[in-house]
Amino acid sequence: MPYAHITGWGMVVPEKVLTNDDLSQMVETNDEWIRSRTGICERHVAGEGETSASLAVEASLRALKVAKLKPTELDLIIVSTSTPEHLFPATACLVQDQIGATKAGAFDLLAACTGFIFAVNMAAQSIRSGAITNALVIGSETLSRFVDWGDRNTCILFGDGAGAFVLQADEEPGGVLSAVMHSDGSGGDLLVIPAGGSKHPTSAATIEEGLHYIRMDGREVFRFATRVMARATKETLESAGLTLEDVDLVIPHQANKRIIEAAARGLKLPIERFMINLDRYGNTSTASIPIATVEAIENNRLNAGDKVVFVGFGAGLTWGALVAEWTGPLPSERRVYPGWYRFWARIRSLLLRVVRLIEGILWGRHS
Ligand code: ACO
Repeated sequence: MPYAHITGWGMVVPEKVLTNDDLSQMVETNDEWIRSRTGICERHVAGEGETSASLAVEASLRALKVAKLKPTELDLIIVSTSTPEHLFPATACLVQDQIGATKAGAFDLLAACTGFIFAVNMAAQSIRSGAITNALVIGSETLSRFVDWGDRNTCILFGDGAGAFVLQADEEPGGVLSAVMHSDGSGGDLLVIPAGGSKHPTSAATIEEGLHYIRMDGREVFRFATRVMARATKETLESAGLTLEDVDLVIPHQANKRIIEAAARGLKLPIERFMINLDRYGNTSTASIPIATVEAIENNRLNAGDKVVFVGFGAGLTWGALVAEWTGPLPSERRVYPGWYRFWARIRSLLLRVVRLIEGILWGRHS
């Protein structure tokens, strides 16, 4: 049975930065309040032309470059997002087209901030079963497009960005060791975008009432988060046959520094064992774990052979954790420039559209 190794990683955030001071010009808040209650100092927000798909494509190409894997070798692409480009088609299909992953099946997964953990687990299980060899998992969000910039309870928290992992099959033991996934829909109303779906399709009335924006019961989400983070970490370690002493680094969902500190207390682990970078990015939802992972690697806090726990919670309610033995790229002499594939993918996509158009003219729209 092959093992599912994490062999590539990449991240990207929009250039535009929004500081706490900038926010204090928009709503009644201040830098001191935001820092002390959340740990956040600034966040990145998407500019014109930047979308969940464009950020996902950039992060993916970086991850593929690390793994030295061609987009054409991918079997599966999962985009975890709560802020897709459209209700359909899936953002993953747009990414598949734009990177030229010609043989990959692609779909979106929605489990809010826990989504990246769920998606990595799905990809790892597909590899472990022998069904596929190479997978790309992306967490990408443009939450700034769904935030009510007049609501100080939510607009201070979120940021935009994307992160991606490449997972590959290999006979060498290691990689994803275990994962736990949990959900409790009875708490669905605690964090919700009420309108724009099939229950409340967008209408003048839903827009008038602001139902297309994020609504959150912050205190309840906080309480829930502090309960589940430590529990899920312990569960996944137990199913991998590991203990807390084996863990080199915990990479938690970056929602609130106080939530991460509570998890550290619950696990009786020193806070230094946790990767925290929410001060510069805010809560990028499902992108926060891969973004933090890339920074952990860049800062030498995560190295080959380390045992790392990813743990998160989010809307749904959802929560989960995953433990992996960190691998790094599989040995390979070859050079791969996935960025070139973007150019060829554009031409391929254009040709496919032209062929579809010609076929439509030749055969008629209804034949
Ligand atoms: N600036 C200044 N004051 C504020 C602000 C603000 N931005 N926001 C709220 N306040 C006020 C409140 O009105 C309240 O005033 P009151 O006591 O007069 O009523 C006071 O500050 C305290 O408010 P609380 O809500 O109790 O503040 P708390 O310490 O709980 O912090 C926060 C609020 C930061 C939202 C916290 O509850 C939190 O982080 N919750 C978790 C949220 C989260 O992680 N969500 C993402 C989940 S992941 C996903 O799926 C997207």
